[in-house]
Amino acid sequence: MEIKTFGVVGAGQMGNGIAQVAAMSGLDVIMNDIKEEFVQRGLDTISKNLDRSVAKAKMTPEDKAAVLGRIRTSVDLQDMAGADFVVEAAVEHENLKFDIFKNLDAACRPEVILSTNTSSIPIGRIAAQTGRPDKVIGMHFMNPVPVMRLVEVIRGIATSEDTFAVTWALAEKFGKTPAEANDYPGFIANRILLPMLNEAIYCLYHGVGKREDIDTVMKLGMNHPMGPLALADLIGLDTCLAIMETLYNGFKDSKYRPCPLLRKYVEAGWLGRKTGRGFYEYT
Ligand SMILES: NC(=O)c1ccc[n+]([C@@H]2O[C@H](COP(=O)([O-])OP(=O)(O)OC[C@H]3O[C@@H](n4cnc5c(N)ncnc54)[C@H](O)[C@@H]3O)[C@@H](O)[C@H]2O)c1
Repeated sequence: MEIKTFGVVGAGQMGNGIAQVAAMSGLDVIMNDIKEEFVQRGLDTISKNLDRSVAKAKMTPEDKAAVLGRIRTSVDLQDMAGADFVVEAAVEHENLKFDIFKNLDAACRPEVILSTNTSSIPIGRIAAQTGRPDKVIGMHFMNPVPVMRLVEVIRGIATSEDTFAVTWALAEKFGKTPAEANDYPGFIANRILLPMLNEAIYCLYHGVGKREDIDTVMKLGMNHPMGPLALADLIGLDTCLAIMETLYNGFKDSKYRPCPLLRKYVEAGWLGRKTGRGFYEYT
């Protein structure tokens, strides 16, 4: 089946980035969220990103208009009936994703692949909510999506070879480099990254160092482009906590215990860049 229309569920920082790269690759896009203001905010972010490309002469104003013209917004999941491939990028809550997949399974044509951008929730568990587990797969983009080259493609236990091949080819069509992972909590990317970020938060919690010093050590000492606390703020502290909880529950190992300070920040609504305050303040 030729993929012409690409559905994105969730228009937050990942969803709007995925919608942007899909539209830039020439696909028609349906970008869905639960409220009109959320899809509008997603569209505004895409428009601002494209403005930067126009200002740098990487894109013409006509190209920008064409990309935006390919993105249709939706606040009704039933609209995914018109999609040939769907990626879900709603918040990292297992039960919410389960509901979305049940509803997508009912709304979408039976041959349509339903992928998830989950950071850590097992693909097999999400697939089991549908009547098409062979067509459920992880398509894990990195943040910010238009900039980062990797897509981690995760096979669930029931994912078919065809589903894998179509998803891999789509990642390449978007100009990304795919890497294959199997279905364990956190997959490859977040199994390695998140325990490191959590440990950096423990360093702050235990007073081993101030936020700037922790980030400076990792940037200048380990050659990381961003410090771990700044990176956690970029990812979103709610997402970081959700991933740590998946690792902790999945492996039943105390080395994955989320730092209490991370939980405290999330409870306070300090989620990082997206709320203007995390380990750092953003204006
Ligand atoms: N932030 C990152 O760095 C990153 C990287 C890779 C993957 N992810 C994953 O991508 C997903 C989205 O993360 P994000 O950072 O974009 O979060 P976000 O908070 O920026 O956006 C989530 C969006 O989902 C929407 N949403 C909630 N319930 C919904 C529903 N029932 N239907 C449709 N939309 C709904 C919210 O309104 C919000 O706009 C998560 O699963 C996360 O783990 C995040």
